[in-house]
Amino acid sequence: MAGKKIGVLVGSLRKGSYTRMVAKAMCGLNPDLQCEIIEIAALTMYNQDLDTDSPPRDWVELRDRIRACDAILFATPEYNRSVPGVLKNAIDVASRPYGKSAWMRKPCAVVSVSPGAIGGFGANHHLRQCLVFLEMPCLQQEAYIGHANKLFDASGSLANEDTKAFFTKIMQAFGAWIETNAGK
Ligand code: FNR
Repeated sequence: MAGKKIGVLVGSLRKGSYTRMVAKAMCGLNPDLQCEIIEIAALTMYNQDLDTDSPPRDWVELRDRIRACDAILFATPEYNRSVPGVLKNAIDVASRPYGKSAWMRKPCAVVSVSPGAIGGFGANHHLRQCLVFLEMPCLQQEAYIGHANKLFDASGSLANEDTKAFFTKIMQAFGAWIETNAGK
């Protein structure tokens, strides 16, 4: 089980992003999972005309990095009850060319984050809809992280034990889920 490589996609580009803080906090809570954030800020926008035998270099890199992961953690804020365009773009880029999706059968988990009370529920479920289509076995446990602006202390550490316990539970369940779905 040890040493599973997790690619983390964060749907916010904001410097002080709560979503990124949550993703980083979660990543430190299961030592069997080696998380690595895959940056998507500068990814060329998907355009099917460019998806030829020599597509943009950053698309090739993203696709290769996704393929090299054992699993994916999607951490998303909610923009207008859905996922931000930057995350959807990364999903689209790695899903092509048709029949060669880098996401295929890759186990994943979703965490949605918001300063609001409902924790990005809408974004979480829009994202899950994509993951069904992409045939990614997605962790059933739900992680809607509300009031995200109150979860961290001034040093950026988790401010309370309940939150830490919940994040730990999710990451342990994710580890077991990866094991269950490995190589399927
Ligand atoms: C938002 N925000 C927001 N929040 C929410 O709970 N539901 C929503 O539908 C939206 N919609 C939305 C649209 C756009 C364009 C922006 C810029 C923001 C607020 C959002 O949750 C807040 O800005 C978070 O801080 C964004 O996450 P990060 O950047 O902190 O990770």
